[in-house]
Amino acid sequence: MCGIVGYVGSGSALEIVVAGLRRLEYRGYDSAGVALVADGDLWMRKRAGKIDVLEEALSAESPPDSSTGIGHTRWATHGGPTDSNAHPHISADGKVAIIHNGIIENFAELREELTEAGVHLTSETDSEVAAHLVALTLPDTGDDLAEAMRQVSRRLSGAFTLVAVDARRPDRIVGARRNSPLVVGIGDGEAFLASDVAAFIAHTRDAIELGQDQVVELTAGGVEVTDFYGEPVDTKPFTVDWDASAAEKGGYDLFMLKEIAEQPRAVADTMRGRIDRSGQLHLDDSRINDNELREIDKVVVIACGTAYHAGLVAKYAIEHWTRIPVEVELASEFRYRDPIVGRSTLVIAISQSGETMDTLMALRYAREQGARTLAICNTLGSTIPRESDAVLYTYAGPEIAVASTKAFLTQIVAAYLVGLYLAQVRGNMFGDEVRRILDQLADMPSKVDLVLDTVEDVRAIARELAEARAVLFIGRHVGFPVALEGALKLKELAYMHAEGFAAGELKHGPIALLEEGLPVVVVVPSPSSSAMLHDKIVSNIQEVRARGARTIVVAEEGDESVNSVADHIIRVPATPTLMQPLVATVPLQVFSCEMATVRGHDVDQPRNLAKSVTVE
Ligand code: F6R
Repeated sequence: MCGIVGYVGSGSALEIVVAGLRRLEYRGYDSAGVALVADGDLWMRKRAGKIDVLEEALSAESPPDSSTGIGHTRWATHGGPTDSNAHPHISADGKVAIIHNGIIENFAELREELTEAGVHLTSETDSEVAAHLVALTLPDTGDDLAEAMRQVSRRLSGAFTLVAVDARRPDRIVGARRNSPLVVGIGDGEAFLASDVAAFIAHTRDAIELGQDQVVELTAGGVEVTDFYGEPVDTKPFTVDWDASAAEKGGYDLFMLKEIAEQPRAVADTMRGRIDRSGQLHLDDSRINDNELREIDKVVVIACGTAYHAGLVAKYAIEHWTRIPVEVELASEFRYRDPIVGRSTLVIAISQSGETMDTLMALRYAREQGARTLAICNTLGSTIPRESDAVLYTYAGPEIAVASTKAFLTQIVAAYLVGLYLAQVRGNMFGDEVRRILDQLADMPSKVDLVLDTVEDVRAIARELAEARAVLFIGRHVGFPVALEGALKLKELAYMHAEGFAAGELKHGPIALLEEGLPVVVVVPSPSSSAMLHDKIVSNIQEVRARGARTIVVAEEGDESVNSVADHIIRVPATPTLMQPLVATVPLQVFSCEMATVRGHDVDQPRNLAKSVTVE
């Protein structure tokens, strides 16, 4: 939530910061602003609305030349999306500008303290207090911005990334981080700060991820990182393994369309290099040894939204392969229900961003209870993998569209690899059995490619149904989480009422929702892989149809049994049951994307949402 950019060097800070904000707009887009340090003063502009609105305002002005600046794109928490609540916030003396991501939980008492000290606050945000506090602390530190930031950070509770500039020190910017992401980019005679490397990838791929409770001071010549008490800390530099073009639309109208099209590559990359010559699987980074994995007697998957649906899919496979019970829990619910987790529990946190606060808090809770933790994550060096005992990265590449697509498919693949790894070390499966599944997985990129060839038909169906009031999605077994995911995509993109149900559950209540013409999307399992499931769902389609619903059936090539019960058929290649989510989800992504487009919505940036949800 909220995107932050800072720049110091010799280039045009305004250009670099605004371009960076564009790349971070996915993190929040209800207001934006910039502050530049020039001629001993701050020059600041901010506007409610998307970055376009800010850029329009900037184009009507003559900003000063400056090579030090900060910028912010906001997802509102405290105070609505107005000009005055937009960031940066400026201290009462006009000398310090601050941008903030997160929530300062003790802001009310700090606000009161400032008001009592005669400071006039001009916004309703929690963030503004930080600007005033830093400015008021500076004189006691000999005008040392980094030291003032450290002292203020120690007084704040909650989650925050803060970045500040001081009009009197044009050669530096300072950042602080607690429970919220902040990455440093190291260029040649220039340095960057951002919530995500995407903001500076056009300039450098050399980065440092800040750790918890650290303050960084950047000048054109270098970077100094300390903890909140001023002790120098070791940093972990890394090189970003994708370039600027990966974060561009690459000829597609929408990031979502590009990311849907990238899925065959993303799935293939996530599998690449995991299996050695002897057929053994390898994780990226593991401090859990095989003996410990043999002691695991329960797996708990924690995740949110789409990642949670990936966990639900994985449950079927991991239980089937390992015979270990798997619970899948919404991260936001997990830690508040006193869950039973201990040393023999493997907690798998699935997160595209690696920064989702609900998942992070659930992960920390699990660690406190002694659980072994494993992260499945798409963002190198982000907090969730850093705080886990083992990591399996999904190599989906940057996912910019707010609605998750390629991350979902790769999360399923990664979770399957974990399941197979467990089955391998625990001896639940013979090597040839593991290899048979790996071969099936290896076939999936080309099968997803085949699905992509048929998207025009899916689009036509979406256009026909675009006026519907609601859409239901049903499935059985792994088709059930696919139905949930199809419904989530439609809600978030097309703003339509959509629900996913286990097909067998319909008759226990939801069937009352059916009415003449209501579109019902049905995910049909393979008849050859699971005949019983298949036949049951064909009966479900008949029940739905008998009540006047319009059926859109996702069925595999050659399954003629659905012809007589489907109003529309979406064909996917034949796959074994557990692989089907990797093909069946794709048309549902396209369906929602087209529905949203026809209904005139912003597909890449749906209302009220943000890509990285760093508040609980
Ligand atoms: C939906 C979507 C969200 C995320 C959820 C978790 O399309 O993108 O539901 O899946 O916010 O995000 P990560 O995976 O970053 O933890």
